[in-house]
Order: sequence, then structure tokens, then C-alpha cells
Amino acid sequence: MSPVKPRPVIGEIFPYKPGKPIGEVQREYGLEEVIQLASNENRLGPSPKALEAIRENLDEICLYPEGSGYYLVQALAEKHGLSFDQIILGNGANDVIELITKTFVHPGENVIYGFPSFIMFEIAVKMVDGEWRRVPLKEYRFDLPAMADAVDEKTKVVFIANPNNPTGTIVTKDELDAFLDKCHDGVLVVLDEAYFDFVTDPDYPNGVEYLKADKPVMVIRSFSKNYGLAGLRLGWGAAHPETISHIQRIRQPFNCNRLAQVAGVAALGDEEHLVRSREMVEEGREYLYGEFERLGLEYVTSHANFILVNFGTDIGPLYEKLLERGIVVRPMAPWGYPESARVTVGTMEENETFVKILEEELHTP
Ligand SMILES: Cc1ncc(COP(=O)(O)O)c(C=O)c1O
Repeated sequence: MSPVKPRPVIGEIFPYKPGKPIGEVQREYGLEEVIQLASNENRLGPSPKALEAIRENLDEICLYPEGSGYYLVQALAEKHGLSFDQIILGNGANDVIELITKTFVHPGENVIYGFPSFIMFEIAVKMVDGEWRRVPLKEYRFDLPAMADAVDEKTKVVFIANPNNPTGTIVTKDELDAFLDKCHDGVLVVLDEAYFDFVTDPDYPNGVEYLKADKPVMVIRSFSKNYGLAGLRLGWGAAHPETISHIQRIRQPFNCNRLAQVAGVAALGDEEHLVRSREMVEEGREYLYGEFERLGLEYVTSHANFILVNFGTDIGPLYEKLLERGIVVRPMAPWGYPESARVTVGTMEENETFVKILEEELHTP
């Protein structure tokens, strides 16, 4: 028997390789403790209120979830001043990205995004046989004027990761305004704000405010980062009600599981946990910048919970040495940065351990 052949585009998809999970590293290297700084999770853990909500709802998992995500959508709408029909839930922000290309992109139409950026944009376009147009970053930032030049009559979607992953940089309000002015009506500009909660820059454009001002944008947010719920898979998108109604047609009715929904509602109400998480990241970023400077390493100033660092040496061997000592970072060679890794900001104790081990390994031939 010869195996079934896939669609030609499947061969062109570079499979998404997540950061190594803690358990895998422990098993492989025989380690008791591992510090996971590869996947931009919240190192403080989940909100205690979310955990309590999950425990209280465990007996209900024999039931299908609320198909509309009623209580969570209601809570999000209230928190952000949006209407119920402007919001759609996803099995992580990833799901929303996929739903967008599946809903709007026809084979032959194109999708534009900066490169390097979040790899799911490209996979989501390839999945629907769309044309993918990478526009290189300029000094680690999305080059919106060049992206505007790449837009043509066949452009359906533009993805802007703001902050961008893996560089942690943002586009400003002025840059976004100029970009939106140049786009024609048929383009959906998607602002992927998975790291929204970590940004404090006053020039940062809050996508929800753009939506309320009737700009042609769609916003994506995630519960995986500051909310600490990555393992539950929960994200959401917001756009004009008509845009959302199209996407709703192909959303799986139970794409957002029961425990994720109740945890999401509880986490939204846990302001204390959000503030503590944000403060941990702000403090950790400053500490790490200082240490990288002391070690003579270049880094990109970040608006997110990770930092792109250039270690001045081929990242492969250093990554392996760090792994052996229980530190997992994300090598960036596949993103075109052969000497860099993306490092998640951890708790202060984790950051200090990371720096100590890094320093030893950098000085070991
Ligand atoms: C820019 C960006 N968008 C979306 C996501 C996906 O988030 P989620 O875990 O909610 O699927 C990530 C995750 O790393 C990301 O970096």
C-alpha cells in the first residue's frame, strides 16, 4: 500500500516546533530541575482564582462547554467596552489566526506579514493555498511602509504582531495610522496583541480602541501570557460584528473547553495576579538588560515577556550546554538569527540562575 499523498502545499510547511517541555528535558538529561525560558509562558503560574474556578467545575467536564462561550464573552465585552457580537473565542490565539485565513483567504489571494514573526501566520496562509508575502523587518521592527507597498488588489489579510515575536518590538500609533490610511477597504488588518499586557509605551496603539473608532482592524489577544493559562488554550479575537459573524460559521462549536472558559472568567477578575505578573516581567527585563550589558551581549529592547539576545557565538552549541544544565531557551537560527536566542523573562530567582549558568558557560571553552 502506498501512503495517501498530501496537498502539494503541505510539503512547503515548516512544521511548528514548540519549545521543549520541562518533562522532556528532565527525562532526556536526567535533571531534577529545569527552568523553562523558551515559550513565553507566565513563570509566576496561573491566577489562584482561575485555579479555584477550575476545581469548582471539575465535576462538569462530562458536559459539553457553552458553545457561545456566553459568560466569558460577556466578561470580555464588559471589560473592553465591546459588544457580544464583536468577540469570538479561540482554542488559543493560534486558533483565531487559523480561523481568519480559512474564512477570508481564497487560493490565489495573498496575506502579508513581517518576517521574522510568529510562524503561525505563514502556516495559516499555506493551509488555505493563499500566497504568503513576507516583508523583512527593519531594525527588528515591522516595516509598515514596505508592507503597505506590498499590498495589492489581491491582498486579503495583513498580520501585524504587536509586540512582535521574536523581537519584542512594537509599531507605534503614528506608524499604524499611516499604514491604515494606505490600505484599501478589502483588507483585514489583524493586530496580534498576544503580549498586550506587558506594553507600557504611550505610543503603543491599543487595537481595541482602534476597533471602537471604527478602524478596519481585527484584534487578537491571548490568555497564555500574562494570564498564565497557556496549557488550557484560550484566546479571543474582536472585530466588526459582520466580520465576526463570517468567522463564527466555521468555528468549531466547542473550540473552547469548559475549564478554559471558567478559568478565563476568573482570571479576568484577578487584577492582583495580573499586576504581579506584569511587575515581575518589568523588573526581570531591567535586571536582564543590565546583566546582558555586563556580559557584553547585545539584545533588542522588548515590550513583551521575552528578550531576543545575541550571544556572539553560534547558538546551537550554547543552547545544548544550557539544556544540559537545565536551562531551556529558544534558539533563533530558524528565524534568521544564528547567534541569538529568545529568552523568556522568569521569576527573579530563575533569571539569576539563568545568568549565573550562562556566564559560566560563556566562559567555558
Ligand atoms: C505573536 C503571537 N501570537 C499568538 C500566539 C499564540 O498564543 P496562544 O497560546 O493563545 O495560541 C503567540 C504564542 O507564542 C504569539 O507569540
